Amino acid sequence: QDLQNAGRLKQQLEKLFEESFRTTIPDEPDVEPAIAPCQDPKFGDYQCNNSMGLWAKVKGKGTQFKCPYPIAEAIMKNLPSSEMIESCTVSRPGFINVILSKHWMARSIHKMLIYGIETWAPELPVKRAVVDFSSPNIAKEMHVGHLRSTIIGDTLARMLEYSKVEVLRRNHVGDWGTQVHTSLKLSMPMLLGLLGMKRGVNALRKMLTTPSNSIEEYNHFQINLLFFLLFILSNFILQPPDDIFRDLQFGMLIEYLFEKFPSGEVSDDQAIGDLEAFYKASKQRFDSDPVFKERAQKAVVSLQGGEEKYRKAWAQICEISRRGYERVYQRLGVHIEEKGESFYNSYIPGALELLNEKGLIEESEGARVIFIEGKNIPLIVVKRDGGYNYASTDLAALWYRLNEEKAEWIIYLTDVGQREHFEMVFTAAKRAGWLPAEDYKYPKSTHVGFGLVLGEDGKRFELAAAEEWTAEELDRTAEAVGYGAVNTVEKSLFLQRSEHTGHPNTCLSLVLLYADLKNNRTTNYTFSFDQMLNDKGNTAVYLLYAHARICSIIRRSGKDIEELKKTGTVELAHADERVLGLRLLQFPEIVEEACTNLLPNVLCEYLYSLSENSTRFYTSCQFLNAEKLINGSVKSRVCSKLLLEYLQVVGSAEETSRLL
Ligand code: ARG
Repeated sequence: QDLQNAGRLKQQLEKLFEESFRTTIPDEPDVEPAIAPCQDPKFGDYQCNNSMGLWAKVKGKGTQFKCPYPIAEAIMKNLPSSEMIESCTVSRPGFINVILSKHWMARSIHKMLIYGIETWAPELPVKRAVVDFSSPNIAKEMHVGHLRSTIIGDTLARMLEYSKVEVLRRNHVGDWGTQVHTSLKLSMPMLLGLLGMKRGVNALRKMLTTPSNSIEEYNHFQINLLFFLLFILSNFILQPPDDIFRDLQFGMLIEYLFEKFPSGEVSDDQAIGDLEAFYKASKQRFDSDPVFKERAQKAVVSLQGGEEKYRKAWAQICEISRRGYERVYQRLGVHIEEKGESFYNSYIPGALELLNEKGLIEESEGARVIFIEGKNIPLIVVKRDGGYNYASTDLAALWYRLNEEKAEWIIYLTDVGQREHFEMVFTAAKRAGWLPAEDYKYPKSTHVGFGLVLGEDGKRFELAAAEEWTAEELDRTAEAVGYGAVNTVEKSLFLQRSEHTGHPNTCLSLVLLYADLKNNRTTNYTFSFDQMLNDKGNTAVYLLYAHARICSIIRRSGKDIEELKKTGTVELAHADERVLGLRLLQFPEIVEEACTNLLPNVLCEYLYSLSENSTRFYTSCQFLNAEKLINGSVKSRVCSKLLLEYLQVVGSAEETSRLL
């Protein structure tokens, strides 16, 4: 227990203040301590801000106190004695400043070094969570948004896992087209609409050439135009354009598969490679050959009708697609488990029945919908053609995650564009009683939206340019950026390649990950290699630099790390060393904040300032003085090990450990 609490600095301070509140103002129980790091370090390390609020509560109730100041003084006096506090002061109007004991700080850090960083894990109010992230769509290419979802989702999962939450990492792959004859409906109204347009144009031409009967022609024109508009519109209402396209893409890929592999079977020795190339080739075929196009349209109908041959082809395309994004995951060191939309298909009727029993589902214009207060459009759960959609799948998935997987926190990562969708799904679940109405209660669901990725021109960043690259070109670029990062670090340190920085790919992923993660995820972020590689700014290169430098100090001490940990002492002698020590001790509260608000950038800011602190520390302490090291101090190890382990919470464990 003692060990578990050793590093939880803020939590321990809160306990002490709570006790003092109980003796100082017994009439006001349940006051939550407001403890925060001091804004200005000249006052102390932490401050308690409760006196002002307490004064507002007790004034006019016959209290002995005249203003917040004496309340603060009394709280300070009643603080139980503790070895963690060196001294306290009160400043106006009623802040209580705490200066921590240097010995306690040093001991806490040393304990962590011996017993491991796990002993600093914050306590979160959930045991099991689902993180739904990455989730690309089959038969569509993985875009930057999916990449961002992958990076942020993986980091959130790591942060929660570090905090001892069991995380179910779920890839909600869009592997299911819409169902039931949608493309027939697509072609009939389209045809009629086109007919209307043709006749309308004819009428218009006649009207212009023979002005004598123009009134009659004008009416013709109007009626036919109306026809045209009506059909086009009804089509889009029946089925959003995205779905139409997706279905067609499934058909296109299936037909192309049959063409390439007439047996419909892709054997291992005829591997298709990745879907991207396959997709491009079939798209070319689709665009250039009308007969092929027609076959693709028919294939969609057969697939949705459940024909065995087509289902099999679909499964194989999913498999090829999967191979494509598996490679991305591997490269980024991301672990994720696929449970695609198709997985929840059989749970949809049951989930909708439950919602129906609660009277939530209504009939509207032939579709079955849930009306949500404050929203202009209802949530469609069964389309007019009887098919299910994205929303019905998400409702079933939510039910499954709550009731079968018993998750207490379900976190979704997509771009902010899907906020409305999730708001509606969550509201429906609350009204059905699946989730508590209050947001602070568990089980809970949260949509984590993120902004766009922008190019340096300020426009939406597309991987389109990179798409044109060959695999070789792509690899070369990756190497260049990776080595760029390595070189920046090595040049400044005169290190030998790969001794401290590992393979360029390792650096590349860290550089890319960090560049994304350091931004507040709700803002758009500009993709710029120059910025990512700046060794003076807030970049992974700067962190790697700090890390490599510490490693080199340890190496030059000629001591074994395990031995240093046992025999060394943590002193916190110099002022800059104390600042660094305090910053290290704040790790648990930073992780807790980052987890609670699902903001990885909080952790990144911390890492950056930690690196700055450590740079300042060894500059002012002349740390390169090897003699001092040989005397057996573990200071350098403290920074290095922590930085490494912090990086592991953000980046991939395997990759960062290779950095050493
Ligand atoms: N496949 C979706 C897309 O690309 C994202 C899925 C997000 N997860 C979910 N449960 N809806 O937009």
